[in-house]
Amino acid sequence: RIVPVVMAGGKGTRLWPLSRATAAKQFIRFIGDKTLFQSTLERLSDPAIFEAPIVVTNEEFRFLVAEQAREAGIELSAIVLEPEARNTAAAIAVAAELVAQRFGQDAIMEVLPSDHEIEVDDTYKQCVETARRAAATGKLATFGIKPTEAATGYGYIEGGDKTPEGALKVVRFVEKPELEAAEKMLKSGKYYWNSGMFVFAAGKMISELEKLAPEVLEASREALEKAAEDLDFVRLDGEAFARSPSISIDYAVMEKTKNAVVVPSEITWSDLGSWDAIWKLGKKDENGNVVAGNATLVDTKNSLVMSRNSHMAVQGMDGIAVIASEDAVYIGHLDQSQEVGNLVKKLKSSK
Ligand code: GDD
Ligand code: MG
Repeated sequence: RIVPVVMAGGKGTRLWPLSRATAAKQFIRFIGDKTLFQSTLERLSDPAIFEAPIVVTNEEFRFLVAEQAREAGIELSAIVLEPEARNTAAAIAVAAELVAQRFGQDAIMEVLPSDHEIEVDDTYKQCVETARRAAATGKLATFGIKPTEAATGYGYIEGGDKTPEGALKVVRFVEKPELEAAEKMLKSGKYYWNSGMFVFAAGKMISELEKLAPEVLEASREALEKAAEDLDFVRLDGEAFARSPSISIDYAVMEKTKNAVVVPSEITWSDLGSWDAIWKLGKKDENGNVVAGNATLVDTKNSLVMSRNSHMAVQGMDGIAVIASEDAVYIGHLDQSQEVGNLVKKLKSSK
């Protein structure tokens, strides 16, 4: 069986003001009654395929994780707590070490972000099976999505020769390109978006980290060796973990490894990373508006209007996001949604 590892330590600043340092986007109910974290756990609930999930998260999210898992009725096998965020390479290094300890070096793990929307159907299951078989031959597999626009918030993967398992060898992995490069890759038709989900054998990831990011591996390994365990919680040692460079798995390993393969996946997938993604996925009224909360819209189209408490009145708008949390309001063009992260940086520095 596959050991699923859910990464739930990110902050998702592009969804300000609904996502905050204290309430990251994976724990928020955007539209519908489940959080993205809960939907992620539910995708892993088939005991014929998956072991009980391991969650790697930030110390400050421990109650949210435990509570939301309980509410979703999913038993976790461990909740690994990071004393501070050191990005996904360190989170994955710790997870690989833990899986190797508990299930052996050859155990196949699937690492999943907690902030995606995916439809689980037969195609999805087939892709997981292809990735699992490739991983069993020592490959680091990822799922590739056909790009529909020149997005700059994703990694791009050029697919090459077919492997016997039906995956494609990765010719090139380009993490978060500039717009111009993204446009070229989109046009060439040879690239896939990196879905951010990875399947590999625990020992293989460890040996790749040893070669490509030894400082991350050493710090993570020591943080786990010195960790304090109580109940399901595994509290990493702060001093050791802090020594890990803060780098994502995409830059640290996926761009550099010779063992990456991509499984072309025609699945319904969305990284709900920004307001335009939420608008795209949301249920539209006859004017193309997605509305959550109380709102009155006049002469307004193709917009996203969300509110926690205030009644929103919007007039004469096209293609904008109006988002009100308890104590802050964001107004912007949907096509500038990728820039909200920069806006938040500015907000923080102007305080
Ligand atoms: N435990 C832990 N610790 N989890 C983290 C940390 C951390 O320090 N940082 C981020 N995460 C979690 C996030 O909560 C999310 O579930 C996942 O790891 C991915 O992090 P993001 O910050 O959302 O990455 P991204 O969206 O910018 O980029 C990645 O995903 C894209 C697809 O959505 C990359 O893999 C891209 O190549 C990919 O296209
Ligand atoms: Mg993301």
